[in-house]
Amino acid sequence: MGVETFMGARVADFDPPVRGDAITADRYYSAAWMQREWDRLWGRIWHLGGVVSALEETGDYVVHNFMRESVMMIRQADGSVKAFYNACKHRGNRLVWSEMGGADVITCSYHGWQWAPDGELVHVQDAEDFPGGNPCGKVRLKELRCETWGGFIWYSMDPDIAPLVEWLAPLPGQLIGYGMEAMVRVLHVSCDVPCNWKIIRDNFNESYHLPTLHPELATFIDDDYTDTSFEMYPSGHNRMVQKGCQPSGRLDLPDVLEAPLDDLLGAWELDPIAFHGRAREARLALQRQKRALGPARGFKHHDSMTDSQLTDYYHYTLWPNVTITMSPDGFQILRSEPHPTDPERCIFEHWYMMPPVPGRSDVITPVGMVPFAPAEKDTVVYGTRSLGYVADQDMSIAVGQQQGLHSHGYDGAHLSGQEKRIQRFHELLDDFLKA
Ligand code: FES
Ligand SMILES: [Fe+2]
Repeated sequence: MGVETFMGARVADFDPPVRGDAITADRYYSAAWMQREWDRLWGRIWHLGGVVSALEETGDYVVHNFMRESVMMIRQADGSVKAFYNACKHRGNRLVWSEMGGADVITCSYHGWQWAPDGELVHVQDAEDFPGGNPCGKVRLKELRCETWGGFIWYSMDPDIAPLVEWLAPLPGQLIGYGMEAMVRVLHVSCDVPCNWKIIRDNFNESYHLPTLHPELATFIDDDYTDTSFEMYPSGHNRMVQKGCQPSGRLDLPDVLEAPLDDLLGAWELDPIAFHGRAREARLALQRQKRALGPARGFKHHDSMTDSQLTDYYHYTLWPNVTITMSPDGFQILRSEPHPTDPERCIFEHWYMMPPVPGRSDVITPVGMVPFAPAEKDTVVYGTRSLGYVADQDMSIAVGQQQGLHSHGYDGAHLSGQEKRIQRFHELLDDFLKA
């Protein structure tokens, strides 16, 4: 089993130069910026549309509403998934309003035109009354590029975009061991948050804020940037790897292990007391123990994971707006999308995916215990309920930052070296909006 190596803060092959473009405030609140992003960015990427497991039978669909666009992804008779714009070809009525469902045919509520799962028009009222003859079999819903990877359905409005696995590179190869396809989405929260979508991107593109905003993580995630691996890929995606099950190198090592590291060890039959004064040895001991005990406990996914993946946090920010945080026994999707009309709001979604383990009933997630079962989408009014403990901390700052960026006192970001991914993100965005 391979062991990931940590090569310091930067990996030379994946540390591209940046130009130092100014990160101006207007990009976070200007309607003109928002329009340029719609015109030049959102039509040229792969969008994460939904989970494949939601589509059990032919005709089952999920819908992704993005700004003012709406896309249906429908299970086909041959098992594949196709995506169509959610607009009737007759006079443009939106066809489907629920975000999940299933039907042998989709019937438009305006004049009753019916569409088969493969997008073909199969029934119209008064078919003989059309000048060119019966349109059935001739008219089709407008189709988009659609592919699956990682248990997710992805679509693109760009007919010429690179194939999905190429566009995602190098993630598919790096993440193959986790068995993502088998995982179950046990948490799906969505919230309209009063900040621009890029503020949330910036936050996930740096770990500089961890000691101040999430100090409680330091007892079991090593947030010392000098012991963290950062990689920025030609595709625009990037990766940060932090050692888990190990206290932060920023801290003086405690004599007594602090929570939750004691519980993490106990859960794998290691005596936390034996690690008092030796906290930095816990990580490797846990890797060995998970390797030894995992199969008998039904943790099948451990077999294909590296030793490092058994303890560490592999945090990916995909260009431009999806974060995937792989932890040893589950992963989070953290996505921010622009609000349909207001540049100072965004739609934040938090999904938590967990592998099936025999006997699993309730599981711990970022919002607490939930049943181990596919989650319904839970739309939260901002500030009324949790979006996840750590995410709540991030959002509280994001909302305040949105206000601060309007000030005459802000004249562009002053970034540390470990925040370089933010600089690169904005330069990629600048390039897209100019192209
Ligand atoms: S707009 Fe759909 S049938 Fe008329
Ligand atoms: Fe954070």
